[in-house]
Formats: sequence, C-alpha cells, structure tokens
Amino acid sequence: MNALFDSRRFAQVAPLSRDAIVAQTQEGKPPAVRLRGFTRSFGDNAIIEDLDLDIAPGEFVSLLGRSGSGKTTLLRTLAGLDRADGQDVAIPSSRAVVFQDSRLLPWKRVWQNVALGLRGKDIRARAERALREVGLAHRLDAWPLTLSGGEAQRAALARALVREPQLLLMDEPFAALDALTRFRVHELVLRLWTAHRPSILLVTHDVDEAIALSDRILVLDKGRIVAEERIEAPRGERLAMTGALREKLLGCLGTGRIGDDDDLEAVFDDKPNIPFSPSNPF
Ligand SMILES: Nc1ncnc2c1ncn2[C@@H]1O[C@H](COP(=O)(O)OP(=O)(O)OP(=O)(O)O)[C@@H](O)[C@H]1O
Ligand SMILES: [Mg+2]
Repeated sequence: MNALFDSRRFAQVAPLSRDAIVAQTQEGKPPAVRLRGFTRSFGDNAIIEDLDLDIAPGEFVSLLGRSGSGKTTLLRTLAGLDRADGQDVAIPSSRAVVFQDSRLLPWKRVWQNVALGLRGKDIRARAERALREVGLAHRLDAWPLTLSGGEAQRAALARALVREPQLLLMDEPFAALDALTRFRVHELVLRLWTAHRPSILLVTHDVDEAIALSDRILVLDKGRIVAEERIEAPRGERLAMTGALREKLLGCLGTGRIGDDDDLEAVFDDKPNIPFSPSNPF
C-alpha cells in the first residue's frame, strides 16, 4: 500500500472552522483578499468547497497541500484567470503571477519581457529598474534562452514586480531550482517583499520554504483548509524552530517520517519526476 499517501491519515484532519480562518486577519485593515464560501467544480467534481480565506495587506501566506488538492485552482481564481461568477470573492485589481517556469517569450529580449503590457512613460527605464532590483542589470538585452534557471525566475519576478501589484501570486516558483539558487532567491523574495509589501500567496510543496518565508501557512486538502499556522518568529531565527513545526505540518499533509524502503518506493511511484528530499515529500 502507498503508506505515505494513505487517505485514512487525512481523514483525521478536520477542516478548520470558518471563524478560525477569518478571525486571524481581522486586525484593523480590511483584507486584501476575501473569499467566503468559495466553491469551484469541474463538471461534477468539486475541487474547492465552501472555502473562506482572508489575506491581510502586506501579509505573506504560503499554501501547502498534496498534489491535486486544489492549490493551483485557488491561485488561478485569485489571479482572475478562472471564473468566480456570482461568488463572494474580493481580490485587488492589481495582481501579478509567477509560475514554476518563467514563461518568458523567447523572441523578446529580457527587458522587453519585463516591459510587456506596461503602459505609460519610461517603460524601458521601469523595466531596467525592476531588473536591477533582482540583480539582472547585466542581462537587460539578453535572450531568455541564454538565462540560467535562477536568472529566468528572477526575470519573472521583475516582470511581476514592475507592475507594483497589491497581490503577488506564486505557484511553485522555486521548485525547479537547485538548493543553493533557491536559498538565494528566497532571500531576494524577502528583500523585494520588504521593499514593496504586496500581499503574497505562495504555493509550495516545500515545508521548510513555507516556514522560512511566511507569516502564515495554510494546508489545503480536498479543497478545504485543514490546518493553519501563524509564525511570529523573525525570519532570521526560524532555522531553530523548524523541527517541531515541520513535523506537525508534514503530519497535516499526510506524511510522517520517511521510515523504510516501502515509503520511498511510494514516493517515487507517485511522482517519478520530482527529486525527493525530506522537505519535499511529493
Ligand atoms: N480545467 C480543469 N478541468 C478539469 N479538472 C481540472 C481542471 N483544472 C484542474 N482540475 C482538477 O482539479 C484538481 C485540482 O487541481 P490543481 O491543479 O488545483 O491541483 P494542485 O493542488 O495545484 O496540484 P499540484 O500540486 O499537482 O500542482 C485536480 O484533480 C485536477 O485534475
Ligand atoms: Mg498546482
């Protein structure tokens, strides 16, 4: 049996109550994102069910969840890429999305990719400034296909930030990067977030990444939020605290410690293309 993904483990995790999720962000300012009773189905298949979510202005929220739990579906709604007809959904008008692949147009130079769709004056100067902020001042005129993976994701971040979004949505943006590059991009994201203060929703499979970056972590299962953790500790002091919280979140995700060969086989059976690491159990 697939021990790591045994659905019975999930049955023990009850969805959080409506009040629990909403109360967290009601501290004065109205939320930047507000969903009440949000539901999304494909045919008869309900993917998100009766979901309530607030994200405060400037808050950094990470969303964890097993494959197929509805993370991208939720993110697409918040990005305005998916319909939410007649539902109680409020999202900022200014949004930007960063995906797992950079989605740069190969026939446009890097600065032109960043400038794409910008209106107003000084478009090249604005694109340049954004690229300088992500450390790509020397690659303005490069073709996207000549960028490394980390550079391409930094260009994608510049393209998102040049729009000065109130809500930045990221769907596994660092998943394809090696560990060292990912660490550096984490630092960059925190620096950019501190400077610009958008609300952020980061979809990730990496529990350690979520702990290192977020104000709040949500776990989605079968379209319901089943766990929520708010992290008060300063980001620089989080390495020491990751142990217990990490175990707890992995428990919510239906994974315990990696114990035996059966478990490892189960991991590779489920997702053969994704390198396994203890912080990336999917
Ligand atoms: N356009 C669509 N039509 C039908 N089913 C869809 C569509 N988009 C998503 N789904 C289904 O909705 C479910 C949730 O998909 P979603 O992409 O949101 O999962 P996810 O949590 O992002 O997974 P992963 O971690 O693998 O990216 C899946 O079962 C998927 O097959
Ligand atoms: Mg997804």
